[in-house]
Amino acid sequence: MPDIINRKLEHVEIASFEDVDGIGSTFLNDVILIHQAFPGISFNEIEIKTRFFNKEINAPIMITGMTGGRPELGKINQIIAEIAEKFGIPMGVGSQRVALEKPEARESFIVVRKVAPTIPIVANLGMPQLVKGYGLKEFQDAVQMIEADAIAVHLNPAQELFQPEGEPEYTISALEKLKDISKSLSVPIIIKETGSGISMEVAKLFSQYGFKNFDTSGQGGTSWIAIEMIRGFRRGNWKAESAKIFTSWGIPTAVSILEVRYSVPDSFIIGSGGIRNGLDVAKAISLGADLAGMALPVLKHAIEGKESLENFFRKIIFELKAAMMLTGSRDVNALKRSSIVIMGKLREWMEYRGINLSVYEKVRRRE
Ligand SMILES: Cc1cc2nc3c(=O)[nH]c(=O)nc-3n(C[C@H](O)[C@H](O)[C@H](O)COP(=O)(O)O)c2cc1C
Repeated sequence: MPDIINRKLEHVEIASFEDVDGIGSTFLNDVILIHQAFPGISFNEIEIKTRFFNKEINAPIMITGMTGGRPELGKINQIIAEIAEKFGIPMGVGSQRVALEKPEARESFIVVRKVAPTIPIVANLGMPQLVKGYGLKEFQDAVQMIEADAIAVHLNPAQELFQPEGEPEYTISALEKLKDISKSLSVPIIIKETGSGISMEVAKLFSQYGFKNFDTSGQGGTSWIAIEMIRGFRRGNWKAESAKIFTSWGIPTAVSILEVRYSVPDSFIIGSGGIRNGLDVAKAISLGADLAGMALPVLKHAIEGKESLENFFRKIIFELKAAMMLTGSRDVNALKRSSIVIMGKLREWMEYRGINLSVYEKVRRRE
């Protein structure tokens, strides 16, 4: 595994500077929040605080895991962590496999907890590593390294398939092993996709094993297949042509939130994948998410600097509150219960997948 550290840098470089965002569609355009001409509240009383496991957070927004592994990437983690701490919102780190296998990579993760002592921090490891021999020890190490409040286990079969050096290992034994690990681990586990979305079938399967925290990471935002396609073309790897066919593969973000909420009504859902503004955040929550997650735009602003990232979050929070004002939602729970209309392709998807509209309305509103 000589190249894992360099691969992390190349991922960040391609994600930041090549065109890999929004190739597919989130289907969030098919979700309409209903305007209330008399909202019945004043803007200043809107409350967006919510909970993330054991901690209170200042907004229903999370920065999902991206990076770490080299000093330059540690610097990006540091900037993101400082701003996350300032705004009081959770932050995930990128896969810590690199830090478990290369001690010199640890500092680029540890820095996050150093500069963000109070917010929820989410550790990160991949499901394929369970097949390759990772167990409780590695999970505990990843959590302790950053004093994490939870750990995300990422599912990335599409990326592993098209990555020139990928390891698409997804046998059911990994799920059984994860269940064993969860019994002894001190923090909750979040089942997280990486841009291709979680289906009803997968949500149900994981819930049968006791896992009910999901990060949907649906299609319509960062395309990992596109990132690996670009890496493949750079290397003249034959898989790149195949990756090109699949760049918009996956379950759109709106669909994934809906399917997970419908199939596992009592789940905790981070709705992510192509969330780009505060209106997207509001739509994700109205559809069934508990909070919304964002990755690539945060990375791009962090590369520009702290001020850029701070302005970005200020804008997102204003837009979220604007959507709450106009739907008459005083707090996050009210937003979850606010009226919506589902149109177009999203509606067709629901029909074909046998999702009953009135049953969905009830679970969406947590009734
Ligand atoms: C540069 C970069 C690196 C990422 N690395 C990881 C990772 O190590 N582990 C993981 O679970 N997700 C990783 N992701 C996926 C994101 O957490 C997120 O699920 C995905 O990018 C979709 O969100 P977005 O459209 O807002 O970017 C990464 C994303 C980016 C852009």
